[in-house]
Amino acid sequence: MTEHNVYRSSTYAPVNIAVIKYWGKRDPTLNLPTNSSLSVTLSQSDLRTHTTATCSASYTSDSLLLNGKDQDISTARTQACLRELRTLRRKLESESSHPLPELSSLPLKIVSENNFPTAAGLASSAAGFAALVRAIADLYELPASPTELSRIARQGSGSACRSLFGGYVAWNKGEKDDGSDSVAYEVAPASHWPDMRALVLVASAEKKDVSSTSGMQTTVKTSSLFPARAEQVVPKRMKEMEKAIREKDFETFGRITMAESNSFHATCLDTSPPIFYMNDTSRAAIRVVESLNQAAGKVVAAYTFDAGPNAVIYYLAENEAEVAGTFKCILGKKEGWEGQKGKAVTAKKALNEGV
Ligand code: DP6
Repeated sequence: MTEHNVYRSSTYAPVNIAVIKYWGKRDPTLNLPTNSSLSVTLSQSDLRTHTTATCSASYTSDSLLLNGKDQDISTARTQACLRELRTLRRKLESESSHPLPELSSLPLKIVSENNFPTAAGLASSAAGFAALVRAIADLYELPASPTELSRIARQGSGSACRSLFGGYVAWNKGEKDDGSDSVAYEVAPASHWPDMRALVLVASAEKKDVSSTSGMQTTVKTSSLFPARAEQVVPKRMKEMEKAIREKDFETFGRITMAESNSFHATCLDTSPPIFYMNDTSRAAIRVVESLNQAAGKVVAAYTFDAGPNAVIYYLAENEAEVAGTFKCILGKKEGWEGQKGKAVTAKKALNEGV
């Protein structure tokens, strides 16, 4: 029997949570969004995907295992990522001054583990595709920048392009039809605002009913609120949010974050048939944040919800006792906040530990 080399590379990619939401595609094939978006990347020590990519002539075909389960690798999005990465590797092999192993023609085995509920509105596809793209890019020793990798990861899942950077990250919707300028860029590193904290409250670890992909397509087709959101509301908020981050203005950061979450969920409700991602527990979290802010006389906490009922609460370290303390206290006793493995609350503080 011939001995075949096995080439290997492993990486982590963290989850990112949008404060300006991506919702709507202008080109579903290239995964180009109708509006730009902005997110905060959580620290790698919290919610993240770990991915190992190997390739070898001893494998019979490409495969992808997520949390121990075989995944369909033939989807157009996964195939788009693999094709782009192989093309870049092939280029490297043909242009190199010394012979390189022809990894581009070997089957790939990709093994991923999430340390949080998959597809429960906790940006699992974002961390998943970001980790997949970076693991293979490392395996292929591609000289690709995070920007270039974000262009590839975007084709796997839009929000994934933002998980290739740490800190505060924007995804520019781009203008070109080929999507070459629809990439992520760093607004500020995590170290710029080291006091920022995020508390992740797991209201349900169930898989969501309506996937982001199909939900946003229906919104684009049916919501009358959607055009104004994409064309007027979001572009204005993008500018304000970038400024708030640069100036470390939590009041504005928090105000826009909450308004954006509400606008996104209003658009979902305005979709036909309506999409409900939040539940009673989510709404209870909003009320807690509202009362905290009212008591403080300023914005000390800001909630946001993606395509699921789980809340992410942003706050500053100086308000840790007030914000995280209040949630832990309430949630410790309250039913409905079931995390993984029966934990009452999954609270994750991050962001300044470096990604
Ligand atoms: C509500 O990135 O999951 O989390 O591109 O179809 O894979 P696809 O969608 P996805 O959508 C994320 C939507 C969101 C908002 C956001 O992360 O910006």
